[in-house]
This record gives sequence, structure tokens and C-alpha cells, in this order.
Amino acid sequence: MDTNRLSEKMLAALNSQVTKEAHAAQIYISYASWANDQGYDGIANFLFRHAQEERNHMMKILEYILQRGAKPKIEAIPAPDADPANVNDCFEKVYKQEIDNTRAIYNIVNLSMEEKDWATWNFMQWFVKEQVEEETLAMNLLDKIKVAGGKDAKSDALYMLDKDLEGAPDDAKLAQDVTATNP
Ligand code: FEO
Repeated sequence: MDTNRLSEKMLAALNSQVTKEAHAAQIYISYASWANDQGYDGIANFLFRHAQEERNHMMKILEYILQRGAKPKIEAIPAPDADPANVNDCFEKVYKQEIDNTRAIYNIVNLSMEEKDWATWNFMQWFVKEQVEEETLAMNLLDKIKVAGGKDAKSDALYMLDKDLEGAPDDAKLAQDVTATNP
């Protein structure tokens, strides 16, 4: 008996998002390896930790596909892009990566609306919220490198930035979670 509750198109879209989240994890470990090699251990630590979050996103979608009675197809993960040219470039690439991922998430939400697949629509709202967090996190990185001098940041500013990111949380607080007593 066929238990699949996802349309063929939705299954393909969710499958491709599984691969995309795995790709994001590869991108983060690639940038983290670059940062470590450049001597930025704090930035590397931050990016390695974030790669794990991307893997969690991948698993969340994979489990949802299974829950809906369908079978995920595990596909090859594309290679990450070339190494960043500098820390500024690294953080700009992280930002672009997150915007691109948000676009992909929105496409699945659009499809769920078209298909009136409310279970998937509801499931995807977690990712809509998560992408606000991911974009905020990426914007915070851009703010930090901007204060440090952008692409012309001097080594002492980069040293401080690296130390700052060593223990910085790899997720961001959202506006909707902020209160007067917990700003
Ligand atoms: Fe899985 Fe960075 O979004």
C-alpha cells in the first residue's frame, strides 16, 4: 500500500532541500578549514559549530519526509566554492549563502500553498523563522567585520574579532523573542 502523503513535486523539492542543507554544512566546514589555516581559530570554531546546525536542518527535513510516508533520496553534495579571499569576503559569502537558502525555503512554502499541503506548510514555518535567525546571524558577522575595518581590517582588529567569535553563540536572538525584561 502506498503511504506517501507528499506530491511528487513536493518530495523532489524537500529532497533537494536536504541536499542543500548538507551543502551548507560543507560550505561552513570549508570556510572553517580556511579560517583555521589562516590562524583564525575563533572564527573557525564558530563556523565549525554552525556547520553542525546545518546538518541538524538536513536531518529535520529528512525525518519529515519519512514521517509523511515517503522515501528520501540521498544525493551527491556539490563541492563548496573556492576559499574566501579574506575575512570580509568570508562573511559576505556566509551572508549570500543564507539569503540563497531563504529563497529555497520560500519556494517550498510557495509550493505547499499551491498544493494546499498544509502539513508541509506548517512544517516549513519553523524554517521560515530559522532563516530570519540565520540571516540575522550573518548580518551580525558583517557588522563585526565592518567595525573591524571591512576588507582593510588590520591584524589587531582581526585578532580581537577572532577572539570575540571563539565563544560567540552560533544562533541569533529574534525580534519576536525579545521582551522588555529580556532585551
Ligand atoms: Fe540551514 Fe543556514 O540555514
